[in-house]
Amino acid sequence: MRKDRRRFLRTVGATAVVLASQSLARPPGAAAAVSGRKRIGIVGSGRVGGTLGAVWVGAGHEVMFSSRHVENDRALAARLGRGARAGTPREAAAFGEVLMISVPYHALPDVGQALEDLLDGRVVIDTCNPFVSRDGEIATWARAKGAGLASAELLPGARIVRAFNAVGYMRMGAAHERPGRFGMPIAGDDLEAVEIVSPLIRDIGYEPVLIGGLESGRHLMPGTPLAGERTPEEIRRIAATLE
Ligand SMILES: NC(=O)c1ccc[n+]([C@@H]2O[C@H](COP(=O)([O-])OP(=O)(O)OC[C@H]3O[C@@H](n4cnc5c(N)ncnc54)[C@H](OP(=O)(O)O)[C@@H]3O)[C@@H](O)[C@H]2O)c1
Repeated sequence: MRKDRRRFLRTVGATAVVLASQSLARPPGAAAAVSGRKRIGIVGSGRVGGTLGAVWVGAGHEVMFSSRHVENDRALAARLGRGARAGTPREAAAFGEVLMISVPYHALPDVGQALEDLLDGRVVIDTCNPFVSRDGEIATWARAKGAGLASAELLPGARIVRAFNAVGYMRMGAAHERPGRFGMPIAGDDLEAVEIVSPLIRDIGYEPVLIGGLESGRHLMPGTPLAGERTPEEIRRIAATLE
């Protein structure tokens, strides 16, 4: 396993250099100015979706919030003002150049089915974590398979980048105050998708650190060695020891 990840990371080395140089070129606080204004759809506008969406709106992006209760999303969008809007999950998926899915894991099969025809080729940030106590049987299956590979099976065709999985949502909301101090471990097989998502992670305040392909997504969970806020260097060091 460790060898597979090393091989993957060697292959992506060139991309990592490009990403790193982009990060060095970025003046602190110049979030959306560097990443360029993006349309971001969010399915699941709770603690994580609402928090990250608000920071992206603040950075100048266009964000559409969605859930099963559009009235809540409308109220959130109204509070955030310009740049924020509300819609159904299908509208958010169609709207977003990038789609973030941030729902309890047990809701992922429904979300995958509802968006089935919209997912193919779509860049998706997956924040979702399987917990048996909350999500039941599907969490047992997802934990055995590995959260990244399980999400890929539930969201067929999506170009998934697993991110924002093992940091509390309140920390995520404050990270932009000290941009780049902490890293955000991410996992994904599609390097173009990683490149598209990385500037958005910087806009939240974290330096993205690719730890491997989706198979490594299982390491991005609360309770794993990578959980919590760590410097990019610490994340790389820990990731190198993971089986
Ligand atoms: N909380 C954290 O600090 C944290 C940190 C990292 C990762 N995560 C993970 O990220 C995910 C979201 O966590 P959260 O804390 O933000 O959860 P949350 O506060 O409970 O929010 C979940 C959101 O998903 C919506 N939702 C539920 N079922 C849905 C469905 N079938 N279709 C569309 N929307 C649906 C909910 O709204 P409606 O019920 O109105 O539809 C709500 O807006 C979870 O998998 C969690 O494990 C959480």
